[in-house]
Order: sequence, then structure tokens, then C-alpha cells
Amino acid sequence: MSPAPDSAKATDAGEYLVVPARTLEELDAVSSLQAEIWGSPQIAAPSTLLRAISEAGGTVLLAKAGVRPVGFAYGFTGRTPAGVTYHRSHSAGVLPEFRNSGIGRALKLAQRREVLAAGLDRIVWTFDPTQVGNAHFNLRRLGATARGFRRDFYGRRDDALSRGLPTDRLFVEWFLGAPEQAELTRLRRGGRLASVTLPEGLPAPPGEDAARVLEIQEVLREQLESALSKGLQIIDFDADSRTYQLAELPSWFPEPAEGGAAASD
Ligand SMILES: CC(C)(COP(=O)(O)OP(=O)(O)OC[C@H]1O[C@@H](n2cnc3c(N)ncnc32)[C@H](O)[C@@H]1OP(=O)(O)O)[C@@H](O)C(=O)NCCC(=O)NCCS
Repeated sequence: MSPAPDSAKATDAGEYLVVPARTLEELDAVSSLQAEIWGSPQIAAPSTLLRAISEAGGTVLLAKAGVRPVGFAYGFTGRTPAGVTYHRSHSAGVLPEFRNSGIGRALKLAQRREVLAAGLDRIVWTFDPTQVGNAHFNLRRLGATARGFRRDFYGRRDDALSRGLPTDRLFVEWFLGAPEQAELTRLRRGGRLASVTLPEGLPAPPGEDAARVLEIQEVLREQLESALSKGLQIIDFDADSRTYQLAELPSWFPEPAEGGAAASD
């Protein structure tokens, strides 16, 4: 894909810049950031894979504060069984001390610019529905939606963010085209049909009894699965009330790219 224009901005975290990661040093920085943010070298994409993704037309973006690498996002082209292509963003992260200053959003906007320039109009990724901050960032801040849901999608992992719990995931779909955006704006203003509120106790604080967390997670799973099985789509999240808002999309809306019925693992 064509390089994203650099975006420089001053925030509480200082000046930062988002650039396409092209050199081996930049690709290494993306890999190291992913390992550091997830607290696990196993979770990080090696720079060799990132180089291949970048060379093959994917997006590999690096955010820097001065010369220091502080955030990243990367993804590749996906294709539905019906042959519709979209961008599959696999991972994005910002170092904890640089969060909540707009760097995550700047990375996603740079990714959007690259994806639009490549002629695609949808970006898909997954997130943990128990995480209030991620839900707010994806659904309210970026205006993305979510339709698919899978229990334990990546299997249990011991990294700092997954903490050995089942990796339940919602599939985010960020529609970049004007008709979809206009329809979603209309629905957010008055077309909400259902809501799912995060049960008390989620997100679970570190050190919480695993059996207790699983019990609460089961409640959320059932509520999300029930709402989504009615053909509704998550169109918003309110962080104050910790509530997902759902609506019915018109029949012309694109079919979900991923996250339909689970394949037998
Ligand atoms: C998700 C992530 C990339 C966002 O990066 P960031 O630089 O903090 O993003 P921004 O500053 O652009 O926006 C964050 C927004 O979430 C909000 N937020 C963060 N934590 C929150 C919480 N617990 N409750 C409510 N809102 C929260 C911030 O206030 C901000 O919203 P605002 O601009 O409306 O105030 C970053 O939190 C991160 O690296 N998380 C760990 C890795 C991860 O989960 N990656 C994404 C998987 S989908």
C-alpha cells in the first residue's frame, strides 16, 4: 500500500509522529513494542513476518515520541468466502505511559488512510469485550461496529493482557464508506433496539479468583450471543453505563467479514 502521510501531533505525552515502518530497525521496533505491551515475546510478530506483510501490501505503522517508538499497528488484506476483500488489522498497541493522548487514534487514522488509498473500505479486528477502554476506543471513539463473537478465539494464553483466561473476542468492523457511515450515524441517533451491560466484576482486576471471573464471563457471553443471534449489530458503547448498544442493520449492509459461526477447533 502507498505510504501513509506522516501525522505529527503534540499531546500531553509530547510530540508524536506516525510513520509506515519500512526499515529493519523500524520493523524490529514494532516487534519489540508488541512483546513489551503484551508482556510476552511469544505474542509478538517477528520482524521477518512484518517485513513480508509490509512488502505484500499490508500496513505496518509505528508511532514515535521524539525518537522513541511508543506505539504500532499492523494488518494485511483479508477476503471473505464470497470474495469481498477488506483489511484485517491484527494488532495495535501503545505503551501504557503514552496512552490516552490520542496516539492509538492517530495510528488507526493512518491505517485508514492507507486502506482507503489501496481501494478497500473496511477494516476488521478483534477485541476483548470485557475491556471498557477498548470498547470505548473502538466503538465510540472510532465509530466502528461489532457483529461476530467467538468464545476463546485465540485459546488460553499467559500474556499480561490475557492472563490465562479464555480469549473471548468480538469482531470489530470499521466501515469507511459514506453510505455505511451515514446509516450508522442515523441508527446511533435513534435506532437502538437492545443493549448489553457489562456485568459487575468485569474487567477482572489482576489477581481475581479465576473461577469467579469465568462465572461472570459466562454471563456476558450468553448475553452477547443471545443479542447477536437475533441479527443485531453492536453500534456503540457507553463507558459511563458500561453498556453496548445494538441495532438492526438494513439488508443492503455488507455481510460480516469474519466471526460467524465457530468452526470446530
Ligand atoms: C487500545 C489502545 C491501542 C488505545 O491507545 P491510546 O493511545 O490510549 O488511544 P487514544 O488515546 O487515541 O484513545 C483512547 C480512548 O479510550 C479512553 N479510555 C481508555 N481507557 C478507558 C477506560 N478504562 N474507560 C473508558 N475510556 C477509556 C480514553 O479516554 C480515550 O478516549 P477519549 O479520547 O474519548 O478520551 C491502548 O489502550 C493499548 O495499547 N491497549 C493495550 C493493547 C490493546 O488492547 N490493543 C488493542 C486491541 S483491540
